[in-house]
Amino acid sequence: MEMNRHTIETLLRAVTHPTTGTDIISMGLVENIQVDGHKIRMRLVFSQPDPQASAIKQAIEQRLANAFPEGEVKGHIMELVRPQKPAAKPAAAEYDGLAGVKQIVAVASGKGGVGKSTVAVNLAVALAARGLKVGVVDADVYGPSVPKMIAAETARPDVRQDGDREWILPVERYGVHWMSIGFFVAPEQPLIWRGPMATNALRQLTRQVDWGALDVLLIDLPPGTGDVHLSMIHDLPLTGAIVVSTPQAVALSDVEKGVNMFLNKDIRVDILGLVENMAWFTPAELPQNRYYLFGRGGVAALAEKLRLPLLAQIPLVQSICDSGDSGEPIALRSDAAGDAFRALAAKLL
Ligand SMILES: Nc1ncnc2c1ncn2[C@@H]1O[C@H](COP(=O)(O)OP(=O)(O)O)[C@@H](O)[C@H]1O
Ligand SMILES: [Mg+2]
Repeated sequence: MEMNRHTIETLLRAVTHPTTGTDIISMGLVENIQVDGHKIRMRLVFSQPDPQASAIKQAIEQRLANAFPEGEVKGHIMELVRPQKPAAKPAAAEYDGLAGVKQIVAVASGKGGVGKSTVAVNLAVALAARGLKVGVVDADVYGPSVPKMIAAETARPDVRQDGDREWILPVERYGVHWMSIGFFVAPEQPLIWRGPMATNALRQLTRQVDWGALDVLLIDLPPGTGDVHLSMIHDLPLTGAIVVSTPQAVALSDVEKGVNMFLNKDIRVDILGLVENMAWFTPAELPQNRYYLFGRGGVAALAEKLRLPLLAQIPLVQSICDSGDSGEPIALRSDAAGDAFRALAAKLL
């Protein structure tokens, strides 16, 4: 028999691992067989330290010495432990969870605390009540408030394994599919992200989620207009944006910044309209009364100036605040506050 790589490999198929009983070639233990004159060299590669290593080595030497009396194996088998790299998981960017989503609408604001999440949650519930398939991403990765607003603070999304892919399944409540970073962390845990991490987290919360077929996906953006926002928005195939404001002058000046962010030449997202939240205060015991605490007509005037539709005026009422805290969206109720959100859904459609 000629002494070459092929004949050596064939002979080594008869050498089995003492523990598993599998031959060492099939196990992939043998690498780099070389014939150099009389010398036969090879590498024995283990993924972890193997107590059978020297027994295997001896079996190889014996086997080859019998077949090739002139050959020289002893001292030429190199032993090596090389831990296996875990198979690379696909990055969030490689998931296409948004493929079945018809429209993606961002809900934005210049300032925090103007009711952006309240609007996003109630608009979603009102759209679902009209028979649409609706999803919501709480993209406020710094201060996720959606889980509390839908009484799902303890919900933990399931994961569906699909080959090397791990799909996150949205949490279902009130006929809407929800996703929030808040489902993955304890409520009291502060979330501190650097810009690229926040962008990547959002990518996972949107693309790596198994949304299935949706008519509309609302994105509750974090307040502000910084670089993180720009890269978040840049990354999403948005249909358009809704900008929420209160009538206060300080809020209004930030709205213009928010609107300009979407009109930025690198982003160019249509603004579908403005929503005036806390437009007036109505006390529960005097439902006909309107008190313009933060001024009157501010958002309407801004909408006119910017040539944008004013989609809705939502009153400041105790029940909206309470429903946010109790986790039962006001849009489920058939009162004036619920009507305001139903009107917004109708207008948006
Ligand atoms: N129209 C409203 N009437 C009463 N309370 C409201 C109204 N809109 C928002 N709130 C309350 O104000 C707080 C901030 O609202 P939120 O939606 O979390 O704002 P943002 O997402 O813009 O930070 C919440 O406690 C919410 O319940
Ligand atoms: Mg919010």
